[in-house]
Amino acid sequence: MLRLKNISKSFGNEVVLNDLCLEVNHGETLVIVGPSGAGKSVLLKIIMTLLDPDHGQIFLDDFNITNLNEAERMKITKRFGMLFQGAALFDSLTVKENVGFVLYQSQKTPNGRDVENIVREKLALVGMEHVMDTLPSDLSGGMKKRVGLARAIAHDPDIILYDEPTTGLDPIMANTINKLIIDLKNKLGVTSIVVTHDMHSAFMIADRIALLHEGGIRVIGTCEEIKNSQDPILKGFIQGELIDHK
Ligand SMILES: Nc1ncnc2c1ncn2[C@@H]1O[C@H](COP(=O)(O)OP(=O)(O)OP(=O)(O)O)[C@@H](O)[C@H]1O
Ligand SMILES: [Mg+2]
Repeated sequence: MLRLKNISKSFGNEVVLNDLCLEVNHGETLVIVGPSGAGKSVLLKIIMTLLDPDHGQIFLDDFNITNLNEAERMKITKRFGMLFQGAALFDSLTVKENVGFVLYQSQKTPNGRDVENIVREKLALVGMEHVMDTLPSDLSGGMKKRVGLARAIAHDPDIILYDEPTTGLDPIMANTINKLIIDLKNKLGVTSIVVTHDMHSAFMIADRIALLHEGGIRVIGTCEEIKNSQDPILKGFIQGELIDHK
């Protein structure tokens, strides 16, 4: 469904992504793991066309979505939903206004439906319909993530990108978010790309796991393949992360 070909991205002298290649299958959950600063968030932004790569191409359903003009880019970004690292809600807007933000602006909703109805339905999917009129500052970290997730799916995207959905949450809330990610995949049939350093959550939700290391995908495979991999960098990363989370 999504194909990244030889993607490179630098900021000044810092090479973040270097000739990266990756394919994501329709309907799968691909988890991308890697150390802090490896370029995981940059990679998600490039996939969503929020950032342009210096080199390389991205294909969505065999259509080249690299370096599009603004009108084309707007059309493509509608196919993506993104849960940003830290949820990134607007503090001065209520939950309802946050979740419905894009829909209120575009004045056109799927089947002409009332925005409030759509917002309520999406909040119900993440168990947050009771906080419609609350401000984000009155929500816990886990609730913010769930509201951010409702916002990410408000416009019915077919690809959902999650940037660190469980970071900073207690294990019970992290589990709730993991279950939601699995649920959304099963209920909506979406394709998901999840960035995390949480290996427990990676093994729970992934169809495949990829390790981002030194600007490229060093290892990619099913959970079984990743658990059995003898790659020293991957093994070191997994052991380090599992110890960190004990
Ligand atoms: N807009 C930008 N301008 C300059 N440098 C940037 C920009 N965005 C990211 N970088 C740099 O690119 C590198 C990768 O950043 P990125 O945020 O993708 O890391 P990450 O893997 O998501 O890390 P973390 O796990 O801490 O979120 C970092 O060194 C960062 O400083
Ligand atoms: Mg990041």
